[in-house]
This record gives sequence, C-alpha cells and structure tokens, in this order.
Amino acid sequence: MQGHELDYVVQAFEGGHIMGDGAFTRKCADWFEKQMGVARALLTTSCTHALEMAALLLNVQPGDEVIVPSFTFVSTANAFALRGARIVFADVRADTLNLDESKLEALITPRTRAIVPVHYAGVGCEMDAILAIASRRGVAIVEDNAHGLFGKYKGRWLGTLGCLATQSFHETKNITCGEGGALLINDEKFVERAEIIREKGTNRSRFFRGQVDKYSWVDVGSSYVMSDVLAAFLYAQIEVWESIQARRRGIWQRYHAQLADWGSAQGVRLPVIPPHCEQAWHMYYLLLPSLDARQKLIAHLKARGILAVFHYLPLHLSEYGRRWGGKSGDCPVTEEVSERLLRLPFYNTLDEAAQARVIAAILRFSP
Ligand SMILES: Cc1ncc(COP(=O)(O)O)c(C=O)c1O
Repeated sequence: MQGHELDYVVQAFEGGHIMGDGAFTRKCADWFEKQMGVARALLTTSCTHALEMAALLLNVQPGDEVIVPSFTFVSTANAFALRGARIVFADVRADTLNLDESKLEALITPRTRAIVPVHYAGVGCEMDAILAIASRRGVAIVEDNAHGLFGKYKGRWLGTLGCLATQSFHETKNITCGEGGALLINDEKFVERAEIIREKGTNRSRFFRGQVDKYSWVDVGSSYVMSDVLAAFLYAQIEVWESIQARRRGIWQRYHAQLADWGSAQGVRLPVIPPHCEQAWHMYYLLLPSLDARQKLIAHLKARGILAVFHYLPLHLSEYGRRWGGKSGDCPVTEEVSERLLRLPFYNTLDEAAQARVIAAILRFSP
C-alpha cells in the first residue's frame, strides 16, 4: 500500500455507497480525463472487460478480422474472438517486442475491423506508422495499454492515441486495486453507448444523472462497473502515482546500469527504449541467448530463493490460436523471443537490498 488506501475504503463504506460510479470512481475518472485528456474514462472490472467493451462498441461481428500481436496476453485476442472475429496474429519488432508496424499493411483485408497494439512492458508502439496505416485503411485502433499507464509516445500519453484504449489495475500493475481496469474513450462518439454497454445495456447512467426519469434496456451490454470500494483503493494509488513511478524508475535503472557489462559479456540483451518513448517503468526483462540459458538462469535464481518468470507464449501457436491456422514460423520473432525472455522481480515494494541480492545472483551466472 502506498498512501490512504484503507482510509478511503473506510470512507466509501461510511458514505453508504459502495456500488459503482460513486465519489471515488468519479475522482479516478477525473484524473484520466483532466490529467491525460481523454474524452471519458470508465472504470471497469478488468482490462479484459474493457477490451470486451471495445469489441462491442466497434460492433465486431462474426467474420470480421482483428489484428493483434501474437506476443500478448490472451485477453487482447479473446475479447474479439468472443464476438466471433477471426483473429489475425502479427509478429513483433525484435527491439521493443511491440507489434511490427512494417508487417501490418500485409495483414489488412477488407474484413479488418480493428488493430490492437499492445505497448509491451510500457514502451510505446510505433504509433505514427500504425495510426497512419489504420486511417488510410479505415480500421479502428484499440490500444491495449495494460502495461503502459504513465508512459508516453512522442510526448503523448499512451492510452490517448487510439479511438479507444484499455487499462489494467490488476495486482501486477504499477497502480492497482487488486482486480480492475478502465476503458479510455478518445473518440467522443463512443461515450454514450459505452455507458450503456457497461451498465447491462441500460441507460442507467443517464438516469443517475437525472437525464431520464426511468431507465430501461436499450442495447446489448453486461456488468462491467467497478465497485466504489475498489475505486477508493485505486484513487489512493492514483494520488501518489508520481512517487510510485519514481520508485519504479529507480528499480528499472538500477537493473539496467548494473547488468549492462554482464549482459554484453554474456550475450544477454537488455530492454531497448527508443528515444521518442518515455516508458512506463512497468517491467524489466532479459533476453538470454537461448531457451536452455533462460531455463538455467530460472533454476539458478530459484536455488537462491529468487522467483523470475518468463512471459507470453505465442498466441498463434496456442491450442485456440491454431484454429485460425497458426503454425510455427508465422511469427518468428515472437516464437524466438518468448523462449528467451525472462522477467526479473519488479514490484513497488522491492527494496534496494533485495534488488541487490537479485543482481548479485545474476552476475554470478554465465549462460
Ligand atoms: C497486455 C495485457 N492485456 C490485458 C491484460 C488483462 O488485464 P486484466 O487482468 O485487468 O483483465 C493483461 C494482463 O496482465 C495484459 O498483460
């Protein structure tokens, strides 16, 4: 915990209003709207649900195609597969591990409805190129910004670049309320319907604002509203976001500085941050020379009581992903990187002494 989390949770209970869209939800949404400049921020039960809302808002239908990086979390694809879309997997760039914009154009067909770039590890995708291709081909961009809150691309906040963007406040994220998310709406035309979809397909939000005298079923929708108890917890974290980010920046920079010589001597690649990206300090990873070296380092660290974990398995090679014809060799960078990548311990409460032990253990390892 970082600040007033428990005080605010108690306040939410004392205020007698713990369902969604209470005072704390409003404060959180205000932050996104005023600080980041999004047209509307809707807190949701998860990033997965915010992605599902995006698929509903874009009217994705069976037979439509949606392009996602293969190197991502299952929800990036699943939210659209739920609507019957055919998922088209794109490979990632070897440097940032973000969707490879140079391969995008070839994947677009007349059925393509959306592209979902993921700002992996909180480092911006090449959004100028992606947005230009999307606007030329009339395709929507939904940023899956689960990792990228507080990051910027050419001075613009990640999450403000697509017509829609999604955030995660899962425990593993920079700021959290355990489970939670947000849909950021940058194109105003989606606001009214998004409120309806989030409220079980009803115009309940208009009713609460006194704009209609009763609410009723007006569209499809589901139950995507975050409880104000969780919003209270989240708001306490948003209040101190700068100190959370400063702490995480320190962790990231210590890894980067202290592992640089070892990395170049051992053929281990450290993260690459393009100069035009301000990263979100979300994750620190290593790219080992081989799968075998990665597994040995995991075991080496485990023997010293340190948990380091790999990340996404290529979605196009998953049991479900193969339904769309995914096969080995389709996304060579994804396939290779997913075997070599290792995430190092990285959380808000990681102190310098604990991190020094992790670094010392790594420096004693040779692939
Ligand atoms: C890229 C990406 N998108 C979406 C999600 C889903 O987030 P949530 O757990 O809030 O549904 C995750 C989860 O970590 C993720 O890494």
